[in-house]
Amino acid sequence: MDYRLFFPATKRNCNPIGDALSQFLPQKGTVLEVASGSGEHAVAFQKRFSHLIWQASDPELSHRKSIDSWIEHERLNFKMPKALDLDVEEIPWKLPSQISSSINTIVCINLIHICSWGCTKSLFYGSSFCLEKDCHIIIYGPFKANGYHTSKSNENFHKSLINRNIDWGLRNIEDVNSIAILNGFSMIELREMPSNNMLLVLVKK
Ligand SMILES: C[S@@+](CC[C@H](N)C(=O)[O-])C[C@H]1O[C@@H](n2cnc3c(N)ncnc32)[C@H](O)[C@@H]1O
Repeated sequence: MDYRLFFPATKRNCNPIGDALSQFLPQKGTVLEVASGSGEHAVAFQKRFSHLIWQASDPELSHRKSIDSWIEHERLNFKMPKALDLDVEEIPWKLPSQISSSINTIVCINLIHICSWGCTKSLFYGSSFCLEKDCHIIIYGPFKANGYHTSKSNENFHKSLINRNIDWGLRNIEDVNSIAILNGFSMIELREMPSNNMLLVLVKK
């Protein structure tokens, strides 16, 4: 069965995110992608960064089915593991030992504005156990800076998120950074991306 989902924004931002990732991903090892969604990013990045193993994950069954269908459709089964059922808020993260021992980067695209603030805390807490010193967590999405929206469209997006769920919404970069520091991470890159998004790169100290 073909369970592939197609997320229009994911297709659009795949190349700019991939270009930015290319500067921060390691030469070898396993990338754990949390909140992989449809899996379109995951297969594109597995193809682009073929020296790495791209481990996709998502807590939503329909998304994991989509990811696995994308892997099969792109004939990546020989290289790419099936999607893991990972909810970052369920601490400790239950990862197969052969995967957890090789993870040296965590990638998180468009998650932290569509979950509670506790989810962001768990993302860093879980990552701090998963990653060794000098490993990166790379986060992409829309953010506020110094408490302000960086564009009218982000402000409207924030309002629409809060209308859907009061616990959702764009986060302040400074608040995210505070949680990162508490969990032993240091921000080494804060990059503006197309469509008023940001890429945050943090290193485990
Ligand atoms: C907006 S989608 C982004 C999907 C994909 N990263 C992308 O950019 O196309 C958010 C994803 O986060 C997942 N998600 C929601 N809560 C989560 C949690 N607590 N832990 C991990 N993933 C979560 C959802 O299932 C969904 O696939």
